[in-house]
Amino acid sequence: MKAKMTVNKTFKISEVDKRIYGSFVEHMGRCVYTGIYEPGHPTADAQGFRGDVLKLVKELNVPFIRYPGGNFVSGYNWEDGIGPVAQRPKRLDLAWKTVESNEVGVHEFMNWAKMAGAEVNMAVNLGTRGLDAARDLLEYCNHPGGSYWSDLRKKNGAEQPFGIKTWCLGNEMDGPWQMGHRTAHEYGRLAQETAKIMKMMDSSLEMVVCGSSNHKMPTYASWEAEVLEHTYHDVDYLSLHCYYGNQDNDLPGYLAQSLEMDEFIKSVAAICDYVKAKKRSRKTMYLSFDEWNVWYHSNARDAKNEPWQYAPPILEDDYNFEDALLVGCLLITLLKNSDRVKIACMAQLCNVIAPIMTAKGGPAWRQTIFWPYAHAANNGHGTVLTPIIECPTYEIKQKQHHGPDIVKEIPFIEAVAVHNADKGEMVVFAVNRSQEHELDFSMEFQGYGLADILEFKQLSGHDIKKTNTADDGSVAPSDGLAPTKDDNSVNAKLAPLSWNMLRVAVR
Ligand code: AHR
Repeated sequence: MKAKMTVNKTFKISEVDKRIYGSFVEHMGRCVYTGIYEPGHPTADAQGFRGDVLKLVKELNVPFIRYPGGNFVSGYNWEDGIGPVAQRPKRLDLAWKTVESNEVGVHEFMNWAKMAGAEVNMAVNLGTRGLDAARDLLEYCNHPGGSYWSDLRKKNGAEQPFGIKTWCLGNEMDGPWQMGHRTAHEYGRLAQETAKIMKMMDSSLEMVVCGSSNHKMPTYASWEAEVLEHTYHDVDYLSLHCYYGNQDNDLPGYLAQSLEMDEFIKSVAAICDYVKAKKRSRKTMYLSFDEWNVWYHSNARDAKNEPWQYAPPILEDDYNFEDALLVGCLLITLLKNSDRVKIACMAQLCNVIAPIMTAKGGPAWRQTIFWPYAHAANNGHGTVLTPIIECPTYEIKQKQHHGPDIVKEIPFIEAVAVHNADKGEMVVFAVNRSQEHELDFSMEFQGYGLADILEFKQLSGHDIKKTNTADDGSVAPSDGLAPTKDDNSVNAKLAPLSWNMLRVAVR
């Protein structure tokens, strides 16, 4: 079966903002404690951070990390995490019904992120707290010195300010589960005032305001419109969150969920543009898809969890091969929308719905979804080109809120090309959604002269339910069959159900 992608040098979507390959570290479950941080672990450094995990985070090449939550941030007192560790209070975290030891706070996390080579996207608590705590945290983190909070930071060991540029104005404030849940009007006003006073301290800061927790929320769309009515002039990004899953064990439908992500992004961009038009604004609102991933495997197990434990194993999804294929499709979708999506964070980084898993006191390993993320974050930089795809399709039925099911045509191929002018290479990411057919995939790069094929990696040939474990990392990429090429096109065989990355040197 044949498929074709044509790209043209002049048909550009956008430059990739590297923050599109962001991640997320929340104080929940074992993401921090026994995840990135475990004093006494054989690989731990003097601060208690695990060297084996840090090595994998560097391998992923994560450029940007949202912190410290998530639902956790809506009850968090950031001051609990500063000063001598032995004197820090243990607190009940009501979001996840766990005990937070505060061993890791802003200093420790900033040090760790620096070692990981990642910029931090700090969230402020607009749930149980508000303006005052937000401006104090900003002063503590970013002011050079000569004020109460900045001098306290110096006293606590950080002479230089942390220089945090991007800030989240709370988390999922539309959700009734959120501590301090608010209506769109209440949140819009609070977020606007918080952004305003934070920008009074530093007008170059970038602010992310909360959109809906997902597009199935009853207030979805009207929430975005009303929040932006209040905040449009003071914020820079609107957030989107969405988790995907194969609860129905329907592989064709599951792999089509990236098209839902695409529709969600385009709808939210349209809402932003509606508010832009209404306000006669010249500013474009960009999007921060700051929570996305597959999340469903651990739900049943988590329902039985005992409350008030320290670092319990919650949201520990064991990802299988089909999840890696969907994650690949989602990454391609984010790239295809890179004109609007400037920030995206895979939720989360370690143990909690994560590409990296650890055993307490034991090894760390790569989940299946690690691979498409690592390929994209390491190689998907430069200019995204508009992919014109010609390929066979399959049909799925989708339920609607009102009216009969609709039939949707799903292309077998999900693909995108990114031209990295600095490195002189063209990188293609492609998923073959077909279960039966190998695709003879021809890629035409109009306006480019092709030199050597540098790499063709493929993740394929596994049982769709196969996972990786501490002892078995066999869901891993291997070299695909050598592609053929002429002056401006390449032909590659995409195995049935495969994630593919092709790198070609271009002139
Ligand atoms: O990432 C896990 C949780 O999912 C986050 O805490 C919350 O923001 C979302 O509902």
